[in-house]
Amino acid sequence: MGVSLTAPHLLQAARGEVVDRPPVWMMRQAGRYMKAYRDLRDKYPSFRDRSEIPEVAIEVSLQPWKAFQPDGVILFSDIVTPLPGLGIDMDIAEGKGPIIHSPIRTQAQVDHLRPLDPESALPFIKTILQALRQEVGNQSTVLGFVGAPWTLAAYAVEGKGSKTYSIIKNMAFTDPAILHQLLSKLADAIAIYVRYQIDCGAQVVQMFDSWAGQLSPQDYDTFALPYQQRVFQQVKQTHPDTPLILLVSGSAGVLERMAQSGADIVTVDWSVDMAEARARLGKHIKVQGNLDPGVLFGSKEFIRDRILDTVRKAGNWGHILNLGHGVLPETPEENVAFFFETAKQLTALV
Ligand code: CP3
Repeated sequence: MGVSLTAPHLLQAARGEVVDRPPVWMMRQAGRYMKAYRDLRDKYPSFRDRSEIPEVAIEVSLQPWKAFQPDGVILFSDIVTPLPGLGIDMDIAEGKGPIIHSPIRTQAQVDHLRPLDPESALPFIKTILQALRQEVGNQSTVLGFVGAPWTLAAYAVEGKGSKTYSIIKNMAFTDPAILHQLLSKLADAIAIYVRYQIDCGAQVVQMFDSWAGQLSPQDYDTFALPYQQRVFQQVKQTHPDTPLILLVSGSAGVLERMAQSGADIVTVDWSVDMAEARARLGKHIKVQGNLDPGVLFGSKEFIRDRILDTVRKAGNWGHILNLGHGVLPETPEENVAFFFETAKQLTALV
């Protein structure tokens, strides 16, 4: 492979440079829809082992790289991975997601949280990110990621995933002072963790505020946005050149607010037309997205048409082509391969 002196494609686009085609990667591109991942999961049944034993996490992160050569290679990990470092014990249960054994619900529990020291709590992250950079060189961009304060607080307080968020909303609407303290501590820990990921080699970092779309806009302004800003401001102070991406699931009603977070790039989901998202976000915000992950259950012709439609609507600047959320389990691997092949031939198509 030839040595390229220029920055990889995704990093260039994320910085706002004009590129010949939009870079492409997928959220959850490493995961259950891949046979190689399922085989490794049989060998390492614990999610924490798969994500915290460096050799295994490196192998999982590289599975989609080897299969599809995406423009972005994301660290295989989870948003709850740093929580034990704050004193919040957790597990990730098969088919269920994160489980917090002693949910955080009292002032005393919030007082007992420790500041995060990533060198001692998350040493495997350095090994994994360094190995990913070494492996992909200038052929792809290595992405780090974190969960946002509201979304991590939702897991910490509810104790698991929730459909209603009734426990954290009860806290938010009856005892907001405790929740604000928890959100502040989480924001400071997350900022430290983002900086650490960048120092270890992450070239772009995405923050997932997956469950902030469950808040009404006025509550988003109180419990989600100020803490997204707190993380991004702290990171920008020390690492101003690393592009930062924000994702909120079900974000149609808060898209303009996401642009106030300090993120450089806003992920758009498929509930919003990409051309309308561009108009709503304005000229300075770059976008990522926004195909319905379900499109990958369609025919090849349909997938190709939707890629072209999205790319035309996003325009030729500041767009990272992606799904609007993660690849779904059961997605045919050949359709994922077709998505990447089509996207990478785009200069010839548009
Ligand atoms: O994108 C990637 O390839 C990187 C890996 C990644 C994982 N989780 C691995 C994982 C990323 C970026 C995440 C982020 C994450 N984790 C989010 C934000 C993204 C989103 O979905 O909005 C959230 C909310 C979590 C919490 C979490 N972890 C959930 C909801 C689940 C799924 C539960 C289920 O089984 O459906 C997990 C487990 C998890 N994390 C899986 C993967 C691939 C699935 C379990 C497995 O395949 O072993």
